[in-house]
Amino acid sequence: MRSTFLTLLLLILSTSTTFVYAHADAHAHQQPHSHGLARRSQRDSAVIHIPLEKRSPAPSAHPLALIKSQVSGLSRKYGKNVAAFRKNKPGRVNPDINGTVIDVPALDVIANVTDALNATMIRHDVGDLVGELLEGRSTSGTGSLTPTSDYGMWTGSIKIGTPGVDVRVNFDTGSADTVLNLNQGYDPSKSSTARKTNKSFTVRYADHSGEGGTIYNETVSFAGKKAKGQAIGVPSWSSFAASDPGIVGMAFQSVSSFNRRPLLQTLRRYDSIPRAMFGVALSRTASKAELRIGGYNPSKIKSGNSINWVPVDNSGGFWTVTASKTNLAQGSTSGSLGSRKLILDTGTTLIFGSTADVKQLFNANNIEISNQGDYVAGIYSGNTPPSLSFTIGGKTYSLSGDVMNMGQASTGKYYVSIVGSDSLGLKSGEWLVGDTFFSKVYSVFDADRTRVGLAYGNF
Ligand SMILES: *[C@@H]1O[C@H](CO)[C@@H](O)[C@H](O)[C@H]1NC(C)=O
Ligand SMILES: *[C@@H]1O[C@H](CO)[C@@H](O)[C@H](O)[C@H]1NC(C)=O
Ligand SMILES: *[C@@H]1O[C@H](CO)[C@@H](O)[C@H](O)[C@H]1NC(C)=O
Ligand SMILES: *[C@@H]1O[C@H](CO)[C@@H](O)[C@H](O)[C@H]1NC(C)=O
Ligand SMILES: *[C@@H]1O[C@H](CO)[C@@H](O)[C@H](O)[C@H]1NC(C)=O
Repeated sequence: MRSTFLTLLLLILSTSTTFVYAHADAHAHQQPHSHGLARRSQRDSAVIHIPLEKRSPAPSAHPLALIKSQVSGLSRKYGKNVAAFRKNKPGRVNPDINGTVIDVPALDVIANVTDALNATMIRHDVGDLVGELLEGRSTSGTGSLTPTSDYGMWTGSIKIGTPGVDVRVNFDTGSADTVLNLNQGYDPSKSSTARKTNKSFTVRYADHSGEGGTIYNETVSFAGKKAKGQAIGVPSWSSFAASDPGIVGMAFQSVSSFNRRPLLQTLRRYDSIPRAMFGVALSRTASKAELRIGGYNPSKIKSGNSINWVPVDNSGGFWTVTASKTNLAQGSTSGSLGSRKLILDTGTTLIFGSTADVKQLFNANNIEISNQGDYVAGIYSGNTPPSLSFTIGGKTYSLSGDVMNMGQASTGKYYVSIVGSDSLGLKSGEWLVGDTFFSKVYSVFDADRTRVGLAYGNF
């Protein structure tokens, strides 16, 4: 109730400003983690090392409620991605997402913000930037991430501005902008490196939710490494939960609403990191999870395994790989699908396919299908969840056990971590692969070579 009131208030305030800005959604459904303070320590490497930890499941949440919030959040996120792609690549159709089935928001980035005082700040920009670049390169650092909830996003702390203000963000490979939430403690007027651009942004969904504000060029630091002049969205209004974290989008620029370089590429550009690469280990075991930026952590690879590098098709702006086979098996039953495209999205918790694909796999394994209108969930019998495997780059990555159990309802029924939905905009044959996968498979995202490295995780 309080957030509804806040939303209304913000909407009213926003009408009295020249800014209109609406917000992407990746955080619409997240639940905040209230004790997520970052711990920092130094590492002697040229990469940013961010340990992660995972909370145990929230026993009170019904699995279908969690799935429903994921579906609506993802449909918004990919709607916003499609809107950005259309603006950035006029005349081209996104190869991964079908914009006709999702709520593609009205998205505006308007160059019309004027402010004499801030114009003065702009004039100082070039000199300051050169000074900062001459300062030298930061070469090491460690941060930490905490999950927002068992089925929510992983979040971590980054510093925005100078002096740096700690801001909690979700690292999302399924979007490409860095956008803060309201009231995260960052005030550009108190930062010596804030450069107000003349651009405002607005994202407005059909149901009138959204967010809006101003784009600043600002210094963003991860564990001491700086990205200078990074475009960040600073909202002046938002209809999303006040407790949501900000977002650091780690997909490609073609789906950036601001059509600006994503943070990873900015870090790379200023040589703050040796490679535009990061490794993600979303272990369910506390203290074994981490995000490493600038390289990857070989100790996260299970012994006897090696990284399998597979090409990424980023023509849609995402980290998309091809699986030659997708199989679901339980006991003596199994079913499989032929070639499918997988969008690797750390901002998604479960694994989604089209309802046709998912029903086919469920039916082959006698999994009870729970049809919820805009998605289908699966209820498995017995205590052992089915195993899902993707064959990618000639190697098969199998997900089984706990990670395939997304929760138990009060009825005692267990739900599978796979959901079928045609309302996420996924094109036929396209899957969205979230944390269920990253909790077992160490995944290295290499933007320099447009490839992904996969290996069973040592976590
Ligand atoms: C810029 O703002 C002014 C004053 O608010 C308005 O009249 C004008 O239409 C705006 N221009 C654009 C391109 O939005
Ligand atoms: C916004 O700034 C850019 C360069 O920073 C300039 O080219 C453009 O004319 C400006 N637009 C407005 C409306 O002031
Ligand atoms: C820049 O503009 C914003 C919004 O107009 C204002 O709140 C802020 O105080 C200005 N910054 C400075 C340094 O004057
Ligand atoms: C912000 O950065 C963009 C891209 O580097 C640049 O074109 C623009 O002039 C910058 N604006 C300010 C106010 O620094
Ligand atoms: C996009 O969705 C519409 C509506 O469901 C469907 O008719 C069309 O075939 C889809 N296009 C693709 C390429 O999947």
